[in-house]
Amino acid sequence: MSVRDVHAGDLDRLVALQEACFHGEAWTRGMLAEELGRPGGIFLGIGAPLDGFACAWAVLDELHLLQIAVAPDAQRRGLASTLHAALLVAARPHASAGWLEVRADNAPAIAFYEHHGWRRIGVRPRYYANGADAWVYRRQPL
Ligand SMILES: CC(C)(COP(=O)(O)OP(=O)(O)OC[C@H]1O[C@@H](n2cnc3c(N)ncnc32)[C@H](O)[C@@H]1OP(=O)(O)O)[C@@H](O)C(=O)NCCC(=O)NCCS
Repeated sequence: MSVRDVHAGDLDRLVALQEACFHGEAWTRGMLAEELGRPGGIFLGIGAPLDGFACAWAVLDELHLLQIAVAPDAQRRGLASTLHAALLVAARPHASAGWLEVRADNAPAIAFYEHHGWRRIGVRPRYYANGADAWVYRRQPL
């Protein structure tokens, strides 16, 4: 399956994926629309209709990975890995390092990021609305 840019026509499916993957912490339709139009934003998808997506900001020479998600019924088939690889390729002309935050209790995401070479560098206590800590990860070189 190939990776492509996500566009406004994907919004309905993006909203559904958010609800399926992030439950109480899903981004709203308005937030998603804002990310789709953000200068410096990278918003990639896989599948038609989308099975997964990755969203990041390229800020100066760093990539800030905001979200990567795959529909529950399409997980563990390498889709997020394909998106992750494409995200790094898209970012590398400008970015030499990357960082992200992940909920300390999100074991699948932590396993995924560590599998892909991200290293934990810190903690932001009670970062999320539910009181969970965020673990901060860095990847350098990207
Ligand atoms: C994290 C997530 C994006 C992984 O997507 P995926 O397409 O299933 O990931 P991949 O198939 O590419 O997995 C690559 C590797 O990551 C690790 N991994 C992925 N999911 C895992 C899980 N549930 N448990 C343990 N390790 C996992 C494994 O090492 C896996 O390799 P393997 O399948 O050969 O063992 C997916 O679980 C998801 O969408 N979760 C909900 C949203 C979320 O929390 N996103 C991350 C924070 S923004």
